[in-house]
Amino acid sequence: MSKYWNKLINDIEPYVAGEQPKPGQKVIKLNTNENPYPPSRKVKEALAKINISDLRLYPDTNSTDVIKAAAKFDGVSEENIFCGNGSDEVLAIAFQTFFEKKALTGLPVLMPDYSYSFYPVFSEFYDIRRQTVALREDFRLDPDDYIGVPNCGIVFANPNAPTSRAVAVSDVEKIAKANPDSVVIVDEAYVAFEENYETAVSLINECRNICVIRTLSKAFSLAGIRLGYAVGSAELIEGLRRARDSFNSYPVDRIAQKVAEAALLDVDYYNATRSKIISTRKWFASELENLGFKVPPSSANFLFAKPPVDCGTLYQNLRNKGILVRYFDKPVLNEYLRITVGTDEEMNKLFEVIKQEVKNAENS
Ligand SMILES: Cc1ncc(COP(=O)(O)O)c(C=O)c1O
Repeated sequence: MSKYWNKLINDIEPYVAGEQPKPGQKVIKLNTNENPYPPSRKVKEALAKINISDLRLYPDTNSTDVIKAAAKFDGVSEENIFCGNGSDEVLAIAFQTFFEKKALTGLPVLMPDYSYSFYPVFSEFYDIRRQTVALREDFRLDPDDYIGVPNCGIVFANPNAPTSRAVAVSDVEKIAKANPDSVVIVDEAYVAFEENYETAVSLINECRNICVIRTLSKAFSLAGIRLGYAVGSAELIEGLRRARDSFNSYPVDRIAQKVAEAALLDVDYYNATRSKIISTRKWFASELENLGFKVPPSSANFLFAKPPVDCGTLYQNLRNKGILVRYFDKPVLNEYLRITVGTDEEMNKLFEVIKQEVKNAENS
């Protein structure tokens, strides 16, 4: 609390990011859904070509070359893409652009009760009313729960986080068509981690109210450069640009633009990396199930797994042994660990430790 902060900042409960190890600290880091593999070699080549002298100049406000590469990657037009400084920023701008303040409308933004924990923070920060919609059994999102409920907008992650489950694009379409006056934000941060994935990008011409949010932090191994983008109808994208230009007209720096462009153009590498992660996830999930864990089907680069032993204790014991996974100390979520899929070597080490921990707990 401070008398120098306004009421909003005094009252808000900010988002808490996953623990970052201290410089030099050696850990197996499986707590923030980063990619265990390095970015494409094309990224290294792009970095080597950067002309240092150009850094005197402001970057391209629209990130035109990244937009071109993203449009090619997603099979849409350049007018359908908006770039920002990480998808968190794009999400924040989208909340500001598409959802209405409490003072202007009594209508809430709808979001699942268990989803990305930044959404409630954005709604507080922008003073937007929110209403959570309960997920069904095993964290399944039912599209019917978003039909006939008055709202000023809808947001969910698909696949959802931290639950790891996905809904079909036909369900996204159902939600968007049932709510033609609202924007439906579909956060596809983890979409690449399903074998034959479908994306709501295929709907943007038919459903002009769908705004898909993408990140390069996960499947492209680029959490360190901060690049996210939105895909939607030209009308939605124009709205995002208006908000950006009222806030920060140069959100993506020159280096990030070069790196992101190179990564988006290397589709072969993207596919090779995501296949490795998918196959590691499959064997690791079945090993955990053999140990008595309950593991909802995952479409993401992480598992949301319920251990057969006390979850908080297991989390702490892993942490003490230098393995970071994510634990949410809140009802229901505190029965699960969210475990990022790392390399086979990392997952083997984690598995050995978990096996021992479960054995110790059973014998105590
Ligand atoms: C569902 C979801 N959306 C968005 C983000 C933010 O990603 P970025 O690194 O692009 O800000 C995350 C990060 O973990 C996430 O889990």
